[in-house]
Amino acid sequence: MKKISIKGTGSCIPARIVPNSYFEKTADTSDHWIVSRTGIQSRRMIEPGQALTDLATPASEHALDMAGLSPEKLDMIIVGTVSPDMLTPSAACILQHRLGAKKAVAFDVNAACPGFIYGLAVAQKFMQDGSHHHALVVGGEIISNRLNLKDRSTCVLFGDGAGAAVLGHSNGNGEGEILAVDLHSDGDLWNLLNVPGGGSRNPPSYQMLDKGLQYIKMQGNEIFKYAIRTMVEAARKTMKSKKIIAKDIDWFIPHQANMRIMEEVANRLEIPMDKVIVTVHKYGNTSAASIPTALDEAVRSGKIQRGDLILANSFGAGLTWGAVLFRY
Ligand code: ACO
Repeated sequence: MKKISIKGTGSCIPARIVPNSYFEKTADTSDHWIVSRTGIQSRRMIEPGQALTDLATPASEHALDMAGLSPEKLDMIIVGTVSPDMLTPSAACILQHRLGAKKAVAFDVNAACPGFIYGLAVAQKFMQDGSHHHALVVGGEIISNRLNLKDRSTCVLFGDGAGAAVLGHSNGNGEGEILAVDLHSDGDLWNLLNVPGGGSRNPPSYQMLDKGLQYIKMQGNEIFKYAIRTMVEAARKTMKSKKIIAKDIDWFIPHQANMRIMEEVANRLEIPMDKVIVTVHKYGNTSAASIPTALDEAVRSGKIQRGDLILANSFGAGLTWGAVLFRY
């Protein structure tokens, strides 16, 4: 089976910075509560009228540039998202059009926050037998327009963004390799986090909007417990499968949901915080974008170098969770 490596990364974060103080005007909250309970100081949000592929397109172009690959060479485009531009077609098809990636097969993966890890796993399967040579995997989300600004338990947590990775077959010249992926879902827990309105159960209507069903609903403290346990389990499974121990890991990129969750997961995995990539303080929880944007920033800043061993893990609505272990 062929080895798959990350050839290039890219990201796009909206310019508009929204500080915690913004929510002090809309909900009964405070900068002090948000910082102390989540580690979030600000997040980025799109301007009205922007959509997911407005971020996913530049993120993908940056990743293609770094990989030195033209869009026509892509065999596959996978977008991990729960917030495509429209219900159909997929964000991936719109991205294909915008990039001019004529020959790629394009589809979305709806796996919430681990959407990027799910996307990597799907692309890896298609590429391992050599039938697909290059894939673009994007994790991107526009959450800001699904937030009820009066609901303090959700509105302070999320932000918008998109990150991308171009995958190819490893040529062995110091290039990395995806070593192990572990994915899980538990649909029995679907009710802990969802957006009830806008799908076929509660289609768009004035009544649906009046009830506020278009907004994210979440039982945050329940998710908190599952998040820590599941992220640790998935990470341990990938490491064990490759006989990797904590001290072998160069960089750990956990889902950027809450600093307290990240610290506890790192603590249980015995990975010191100076090896943890953190962006949650400035971008909040960007769902499927959190891992690829953090990865891209760490690569471009020179923190992550070719050959480094990276562990990333995530959890989200579904519930879904997973981990990936790769050498960059
Ligand atoms: N400002 C002030 N008070 C608040 C706020 C707020 N923004 N939010 C909740 N509170 C209050 C609650 O009402 C509660 O008050 P009470 O004691 O009077 O009832 C109190 O703070 C404690 O509430 P908890 O929910 O127990 O607070 P907790 O410490 O668990 O923090 C949080 C809440 C931040 C949501 C945390 O549980 C969390 O991060 N959970 C994980 C959520 C998550 O990551 N979801 C996304 C995963 S999926 C994805 O990424 C798409």
